[in-house]
Amino acid sequence: MIIDGKAIAAQVRAEVARDVAELKARGQMVGLTVVRVGEDPASAVYVRNKIKACAEVGIVSTEHHPDASISQAELLSLVARLNADPAVHGILVQLPLPKQISEQVVLEAISPQKDADGFHPFNVGCLWTGKPAPRACTPFGVMRLLDEARVELKGKHALVVGRSNIVGKPQACMLLERHATVTIAHSRTPDLAAEVARADVLVAAVGKAEMVKGAWVKPGAVVIDVGMNRNAEGKLVGDVEFAPAAARASAITPVPGGVGPMTIAMLLRNTVDLAKARR
Ligand code: GUN
Repeated sequence: MIIDGKAIAAQVRAEVARDVAELKARGQMVGLTVVRVGEDPASAVYVRNKIKACAEVGIVSTEHHPDASISQAELLSLVARLNADPAVHGILVQLPLPKQISEQVVLEAISPQKDADGFHPFNVGCLWTGKPAPRACTPFGVMRLLDEARVELKGKHALVVGRSNIVGKPQACMLLERHATVTIAHSRTPDLAAEVARADVLVAAVGKAEMVKGAWVKPGAVVIDVGMNRNAEGKLVGDVEFAPAAARASAITPVPGGVGPMTIAMLLRNTVDLAKARR
């Protein structure tokens, strides 16, 4: 089975649009503010897509676009203004930030009650202690894909390849919460092939083109590929070798059209949930 992330993301967006309409009927608008610093080309594309997605579900979005030369103090003062603005329910500072600015300091300055990305350490702590809070959008989207594909997680061996704060670590926590036995592999894992061969559920989030070989995949496993890489021929590929993995897996996400569309859908979900929590 190919897990259709595009279709599932459309479903999430339709749910969000319904919630936004309900809030609007009760007199509440939902607002997301996106801060994009400087001219990172990938960030420009991501932010454009986020803003377009907001418009489609009725979320009022605002973009702040300071110059790459902005000081950390100036950026922190912008974040403080947004924290105090009652029309802003969600704040997202697009990463990466220019060198003179500490990403961690900026992420910690965003009010946890407006943290649309779920990156604030308070919300990360909520995730790890089982309290409701905004969750990192990509791993949150992966969980939705697994649920829609009716994948049983209880008692299964789940392997997360990659240990980033944005994907790998929160992903491991969300799988653990659903009673999987979770392993996190990374660049210093001595025998990745052996870890993959044990996994009933594999989430690959390393950012290296086709690093996970299809032949390693356990027959019948569920494969979720978070990767988005250009290979030597310039083709968009995942972290997993798709064709040989698909031949062994019971279900797999394609690249593109798998995890990718879910990230923005879950950002919209987080934003509406933040607005609801404020009522
Ligand atoms: N840069 C790459 N991915 C992300 C993301 O999910 N959120 C933000 N804010 N920046 C990013």
